[in-house]
Amino acid sequence: MSDSATVDYDGLIPNNVGLNADPRLRRALESWHPGYLDWWRARGPDGFQDSLVYLRTAIGVDSDGWAKFGYVRMPDYRWGILLAPQVEGRTIPFGAHKGEKAWQEVPGEYRALLRRLVVVQGDTEPASVEQQRLLGATAPSLYDLRNLFQVNVEEARHLWAMVYLLQKYFGRDGREEAEELLRRRSGDRDSPRLLGAFNEATPDWLSFFMFTFFTDRDGKMQLQALAQSGFDPLSRTCRFMLTEEAHHMFVGQTGIGRIVERSCAAMREAGLSDPTDIERVRALGVIDLPTIQKKANLHFALTLDLFGGEISTNAANVFNAGLKGRYREDKIADDHVLTGATYAVVRLRDGRIVTEEVPALSALNMRLRDDFAAEAAAGVERWNAIIARAGIAYRLRLPHVAFNRRIGEFAGIEADPDGNLLSAEEWQRRRDEFLPSAADDAFVASLMRPVTEPGKFAPWIAPPRTGIDGKPGDFEYVRLAG
Ligand SMILES: [Fe+2]
Ligand SMILES: [Fe+2]
Repeated sequence: MSDSATVDYDGLIPNNVGLNADPRLRRALESWHPGYLDWWRARGPDGFQDSLVYLRTAIGVDSDGWAKFGYVRMPDYRWGILLAPQVEGRTIPFGAHKGEKAWQEVPGEYRALLRRLVVVQGDTEPASVEQQRLLGATAPSLYDLRNLFQVNVEEARHLWAMVYLLQKYFGRDGREEAEELLRRRSGDRDSPRLLGAFNEATPDWLSFFMFTFFTDRDGKMQLQALAQSGFDPLSRTCRFMLTEEAHHMFVGQTGIGRIVERSCAAMREAGLSDPTDIERVRALGVIDLPTIQKKANLHFALTLDLFGGEISTNAANVFNAGLKGRYREDKIADDHVLTGATYAVVRLRDGRIVTEEVPALSALNMRLRDDFAAEAAAGVERWNAIIARAGIAYRLRLPHVAFNRRIGEFAGIEADPDGNLLSAEEWQRRRDEFLPSAADDAFVASLMRPVTEPGKFAPWIAPPRTGIDGKPGDFEYVRLAG
């Protein structure tokens, strides 16, 4: 075992996992590498591959000074395999094996369960890069363009992180799964990505910011739960991925915040006091708040589906097995085994939405989703504070969990954003009140014109408070080629 604090940057694949001492694994990863680069060029950011992008690259795993910033051509980005340092004497923190020594190898009895967890997590990483592939062409500024690419290269590094686990610990099926991760494609009819939200389009920057706010936060919750894993290599991998993930949610939180700020400022300048007077707000060239609400409705519901069914025996199994814990498992004060414990779940009973206590083990998806929703709600309040500061009477909010669901308790019914059940006909008739209509999408699309002059921003979004890496406002975050 190598000293995990030192990152080897000399080889083809930067790493702190002692790749040089493991020729079999190194060969496997090196033979996967060309296919990966083909994938990046074909399905990663469209264009801009020769541009110089001011990117952060992970160079260590210490909490301070883990990254460096500099101009990079994206295909030359040093995608590496980085694990958080091993914790001496770590034990399995929950489930039936609680207190036993953490596993350094795959426990045979849980091999299939564990591989599935790694594959599903791994599949989401390249999927989001594919979904965001066309956004560079309409970036509202070089600052935002750079942030998009930062998210993209890091999601791609997360793919490397999962491929490392597959190739190191799962033998031949791991190698096959690693190939499949490059073969599936977001939105493809024949070979789609594994989870619904990762096959949706991300057609504009409002969607991109909503995606990073909501869907990257699902990623964070999943990584937090996997970081608790009794399988130590998975725990260490996820712990390091989380350091990168924080920036992705920052992009979403501040991206929507800047759109809201600009819309409110434009309304005030024009003396408009009614934020629901959509025509007049849009005539100012900014996005009206009701459309932002509808986009939030869409992305929140899509993201809730990623947590799976509210009641799940699979979730109970992976917890019992010690493979996937709860959010901040190590901070929860209970027995971490949960036999006999209960948890409140929102369910559909005889056509009514009710709250019911169920065995806590079967409600782990619901619990993680509740933790997610609480964080998302806090983020929405930060947007509301911007609206309130501008003196505009409007509040954004999260829709009810029964709204527009495809998975779990509410998959078979329709409800409005307040959680009132609707007939199929009424839903069809009122759909455009709740979700972006074709006209809403067309309006947002009409605003998507690229701004490529350093320090300038599209008229529908405010500049950020501060630059990346302390850079000044007119810093050239991307040096466009040609
Ligand atoms: Fe990720
Ligand atoms: Fe992310």
